[in-house]
Amino acid sequence: MPPNSGRPAATAVSVIEEPAPAKLNLYLHVTGRRPDGYHLLDSLFAFADIGDRIRLRPGEGPSLSVDGPFASAAPAGPDNLALKALLALAEAVGRPPGVAMELTKALPVAAGIGGGSADAAAVLRGLCRLWDIDRRDPRIRTVAGSLGADVPACLLGAACFAAGIGDELTPAPSTAGLPVVLVNPGVALATPDVFRARTGGFSAAARFDDRFDNPSDPRGWAAALRARRNDLTPAALALAPEIGEVLAILEDPEGCLLARMSGSGATCFGLFEDHAAARAAAEAIAARRPGWWVRPARLL
Ligand code: C5P
Repeated sequence: MPPNSGRPAATAVSVIEEPAPAKLNLYLHVTGRRPDGYHLLDSLFAFADIGDRIRLRPGEGPSLSVDGPFASAAPAGPDNLALKALLALAEAVGRPPGVAMELTKALPVAAGIGGGSADAAAVLRGLCRLWDIDRRDPRIRTVAGSLGADVPACLLGAACFAAGIGDELTPAPSTAGLPVVLVNPGVALATPDVFRARTGGFSAAARFDDRFDNPSDPRGWAAALRARRNDLTPAALALAPEIGEVLAILEDPEGCLLARMSGSGATCFGLFEDHAAARAAAEAIAARRPGWWVRPARLL
């Protein structure tokens, strides 16, 4: 018998599972445009306790299979950002990309709530665990930025203000527990189309450093957010007029403090007084519009 080293024997990891939470832009101001066409933003990212899930199995691969209610809208081919994330990180850290990935697609696609960016970030987090890489390793941040403007925020997965093209992040007051309802009318909107349809000038940055006495009070948040907006809403509305109906229906129920579009749409969120009101509103909206995707959630 070899002498006991005092350390537990290493066990092979069989599967790693990571959530890919839905991302929301609580406000989004377009503050400028770079020469390469990307827009400069001032935004507040938050994340919800609903989302996709990714499972990573080391050994075989690289491969990706997709299941879940929105699987058909997120093909498993090489264009899928989850697969791109695996290949890019493997190359950056010099590891063979031998990982079989299973993605459960629970969020609508091209919907302004993260989608592929959230999935790619979940893959990076999972690979850090699998390959024992510190998540603060600068190579992770570089790969995240190369995959898309929202991926660094999704990698962080916590409320943060964003500047630059959405990738310069600083912490924001905690949004944990805030009750929301997410509503998507079933219209896919491609982010580049919405930015292209935007007209008019630019907004000032409106980052706030209000230290709410009680950051878990939705009313304080609603007051701060009401003084801000999502600058992509008019462009998204022009492409998908259904968004107007979503906002009107979300604003209607008792307890809704604020209704707003997230990202480039078409998903909108309502911020509610409490969870009971959010659940009741979600039920009522789902009953009125059975074809829409409607989910009550809590922010992380
Ligand atoms: O970075 P990502 O691939 O998510 O961006 C998709 C497209 O959205 C970009 O090609 C660009 O047209 C537009 N975009 C932008 N400004 C940003 C983020 C995205 O113009 N800050």
